[in-house]
Amino acid sequence: MLTLGFMSLSHEHEKTYAEELAKMASDYGIRFIRFTPLDISPGSTLVKALTYHSKSGQWNEVEREIPELIYDRCFYGKDQQSKKAKPIVDWLKKYPKTKFLGLGLPDKWTVYKALRADPILKSYLPATSLAGSAQDVLRRLTKEKKCILKPAYGSGGRGMIHLEMTGKTVKASYQVGKHKQLKSFSKQASFETWCKKVLQHRYLLQSFLDIQDKDGYPCDIRLLLQKNGAGEWATAGRTVRRSYQHGLLANLAGSSESVSFDSWLLSVPKKRQAVLLDDLETISQAVPRALEFAHGPLFELGLDICLTKDGKVWLLDVNSKPGKKAFLQYSPENSKLLHQGPLEYCSSLAASPDKKGAEKG
Ligand SMILES: Nc1ncnc2c1ncn2[C@@H]1O[C@H](COP(=O)(O)OP(=O)(O)O)[C@@H](O)[C@H]1O
Ligand SMILES: [Mg+2]
Repeated sequence: MLTLGFMSLSHEHEKTYAEELAKMASDYGIRFIRFTPLDISPGSTLVKALTYHSKSGQWNEVEREIPELIYDRCFYGKDQQSKKAKPIVDWLKKYPKTKFLGLGLPDKWTVYKALRADPILKSYLPATSLAGSAQDVLRRLTKEKKCILKPAYGSGGRGMIHLEMTGKTVKASYQVGKHKQLKSFSKQASFETWCKKVLQHRYLLQSFLDIQDKDGYPCDIRLLLQKNGAGEWATAGRTVRRSYQHGLLANLAGSSESVSFDSWLLSVPKKRQAVLLDDLETISQAVPRALEFAHGPLFELGLDICLTKDGKVWLLDVNSKPGKKAFLQYSPENSKLLHQGPLEYCSSLAASPDKKGAEKG
């Protein structure tokens, strides 16, 4: 019997999602366990894992071999747990007896370059460069008046900085938790000093897009793409994330909500709806192709897309470990499909491991 290991940094992470997968796994002839990288016993190929007991609704401890297939749901932070786990996962990716459903993606700049190399996707990407110096940023601001600094290793909207130039004054706004912070620099030298400090980390410099809807709420369209049982990419979920009025980001943790894609679509002028759907389809087909070409096989992707007031569609961000919650909220009929996704893909890998190409790295 094939074993699928759901690997995350804590046993509490995505508990409901893991539980649903565990309940359905036996229908696919799959044994389901969950574990953290630190549960692997050093110097052995055994892992102290948890299995789900559906009658009692409990997770019980078991000791198993490292599973043949791993669904990697580790989200690394700056904490000790992350620091210890990362090298173990890197080791696991090379361990010949296991396969990852999908490798993670590299940093945003590397991903951007892979997307940019695709002639179709090129026209959906906001102008982006690597922010090398304060001078780079000032040059862009002089030209465009507004721009974005986006951390190359960021997620969840953390570290995003909006910049705006009025006359000689530069204003920087960013979120600290739920609060919008504003810094104003009337002297170029003071902006340069601040910017230099910021740019000690790797940032992308990107054209600003007005992602607010007609009522001033920042919105992102989220698409979840997964490989189906035949190993073909398909859209497994669509939703819209919306944050507070006049906010900066659509994905602000704690302050953004998920809106049904279909009802949101009705607020888009009729003549634009068909074009938007067409663009979403084009992007959905092109992104997996471009990223698999550059970085090897993947299992799922989350796309952040926005529609600006002029009707143009932009691809803002691609995630290789998309969250599922927002997709489940408005389409319970999709819930089964979403939970089946990884299991179907696993059983297709088991049927023809070489053809379907799960990878290790
Ligand atoms: N060029 C841009 N102009 C305006 N807003 C943006 C731009 N890029 C991203 N955003 C907003 O910031 C949010 C976070 O950016 P994103 O690129 O998705 O990074 P991450 O989600 O990894 O933090 C997006 O969901 C979107 O709401
Ligand atoms: Mg994002």
